[in-house]
Amino acid sequence: MLKIAVIGAGRIGKIHAANIATHPQATLVAVADPFINSANALADLYGAEAVSDPLELINDADVDAVIIATPTDTHVDLMLAAARQGKKVLCEKPVDLDLKRAADACRQLEEINAPVMVAFNRRFDPSASELQQAIASGDIGDLHQVVITSRDPDFAPMDYLRHSGGIFSDMVIHDFDMARWLLGEEPVEVYASASRLLKPELAEFNDYDTVMVQMTTASGRQCHINCSRRAVYGYDQRLEAFGSAGMLLNNNQRANSVRRYTAAATEVQAPLEAFFLERYEQAYRLEMDAFIQAALGKCAIPVTPFDGLMALKLAECAARSAASGRPVSVD
Ligand SMILES: NC(=O)c1ccc[n+]([C@@H]2O[C@H](COP(=O)([O-])OP(=O)(O)OC[C@H]3O[C@@H](n4cnc5c(N)ncnc54)[C@H](O)[C@@H]3O)[C@@H](O)[C@H]2O)c1
Repeated sequence: MLKIAVIGAGRIGKIHAANIATHPQATLVAVADPFINSANALADLYGAEAVSDPLELINDADVDAVIIATPTDTHVDLMLAAARQGKKVLCEKPVDLDLKRAADACRQLEEINAPVMVAFNRRFDPSASELQQAIASGDIGDLHQVVITSRDPDFAPMDYLRHSGGIFSDMVIHDFDMARWLLGEEPVEVYASASRLLKPELAEFNDYDTVMVQMTTASGRQCHINCSRRAVYGYDQRLEAFGSAGMLLNNNQRANSVRRYTAAATEVQAPLEAFFLERYEQAYRLEMDAFIQAALGKCAIPVTPFDGLMALKLAECAARSAASGRPVSVD
């Protein structure tokens, strides 16, 4: 049994804790959060220990692995501290808010050959992985274009947004990772257009709510990502891959597939899955399983700090392009 501690008892920490607790090869041994009431509440659900200082768990010889589910600006320090203690680490996205700091951390992790996985959960969504495998096995011939639609149902609280690092590194980061993974090549040029159509007050910390990104790889493959912080009809998550021999399409998922036809309307379906916790429930479970298998030495780490760094680099290029109004080369 792999003994795992969760650091950060917030929205995503709770998901990870639940998935560890139900995994047959792992035990949730402890939860750390400076708000000890949050740590207690989560730890009590699974009979784990609660502490306020994450270093207590990182330095505990009885902990094999840690999940870092804290605010983004704490990831690098916690990741390095845990890796230096020989822990296996699953760290939430993004690696950091600052590209240079993230690059430096990645270099250090490589030097100590640390087993660290970055939590890009969407790669573990069964539909996304089916689509990626179909591209890789040539089902649509040569890949030409990837189109990603990624719209949240509503804004996170302003306090979260203020410290999130901005829409590109907080939200679109998932789509940058998805784009790299599906394209199978690194984008070499990024052009982004960004607007504040919903919340003008985002200007206070230079953020946006509505963005479109276009990227090109060295061989000419193209990717288009469109994101909004608010889609009134729900969490809109779609993927399309177009190639010389066909197209792959992953549409939105719903709680059920019944379509209603009445005098008032036809093709009426159940609403979209509410938000990420519902839409990616299975992905979070499979992501945790992949981490546990890698931590037990059964397979390689599937999503590395390098992947985290490259997604952050694309986010930074997009932010620069949006500010300048010009395409930016990825160096
Ligand atoms: N992969 C995903 O789908 C996904 C979804 C949501 C959030 N995230 C990422 O997860 C991270 C956390 O986001 P969240 O929405 O769960 O935030 P949250 O605010 O709900 O939870 C963060 C928790 O960490 C605690 N905390 C703060 N500093 C800490 C420290 N030094 N040590 C231990 N605990 C500390 C806070 O008290 C809080 O309970 C962010 O980096 C975010 O980008 C990823």
